[in-house]
Amino acid sequence: MSTASRRLIIAGNWKMHTDVVDGASLVAEVVECTASLALAADLVLCPPFTHLAVAATQLSRSSISLGAQNMHQAPEGAYTGEVSARMLLTSGCRYVILGHSERRTYFDETNHSVNEKVKSAIAAGLTPILCVGETLQDREAGRTEQVVDEQVRQGLSDTKPESAEDLVLAYEPVWAIGTGRVATPDQADRVHGHLRTVIADMYDDDFASRIRIQYGGSVKPENAGALMSRPHIDGALVGGASLDASSFEAIVRAGLGFDGG
Ligand code: PGA
Repeated sequence: MSTASRRLIIAGNWKMHTDVVDGASLVAEVVECTASLALAADLVLCPPFTHLAVAATQLSRSSISLGAQNMHQAPEGAYTGEVSARMLLTSGCRYVILGHSERRTYFDETNHSVNEKVKSAIAAGLTPILCVGETLQDREAGRTEQVVDEQVRQGLSDTKPESAEDLVLAYEPVWAIGTGRVATPDQADRVHGHLRTVIADMYDDDFASRIRIQYGGSVKPENAGALMSRPHIDGALVGGASLDASSFEAIVRAGLGFDGG
């Protein structure tokens, strides 16, 4: 399958870090230090819900997009504490991370509930960043491909995004998230290549050659360049290292092949 040139997409997943004041400072720093890079790659910041409105205003004059870390599948209703796709869209979000392994592990999200969310995000006009990845146990048992295959097929069941740009996949091996243990570029690229064949089977070859697949799990300035230079790795979903503007900038630079990264 062709490795059509795909624009890098690098997103910062802030998780439940920073308060509103610190968050606004971090957004301002990222805008400043990535100003010359944001035209060469798609950059996305995904702060906590409480930060979205302020961040949207701050980002409105930059090329950086805003994303959320989760949403509820229903368009509205009596779901105390939840947030809908339309609320995110009208808060300035373009992207939403769905099915992150922390949501699957701590909040009992399943491929079925993730699928409901993906459908509702697409229907509202948000671009889902669908996360998939195997546990260490899965990997050691040789089940990596099977697990990510199921997560993608079930997570995307009955969906047909209008274009490949309206969907992003993130391969995040659970054993690499927040552990400092990163998948090797070869390991990651192999799984990304497999995911592309699954997408080709579900949609078509053209869609599969255009869809962007991020790698996530302990991405740092030191490993970002080698990962993103692989043919099937089209960006990164960055947790811890996105909480520091200069390391986020260094990851973007490395991804773009600057600084010898
Ligand atoms: P990490 O997190 O970069 O801190 O490993 C990645 C993620 O969970 O998206």
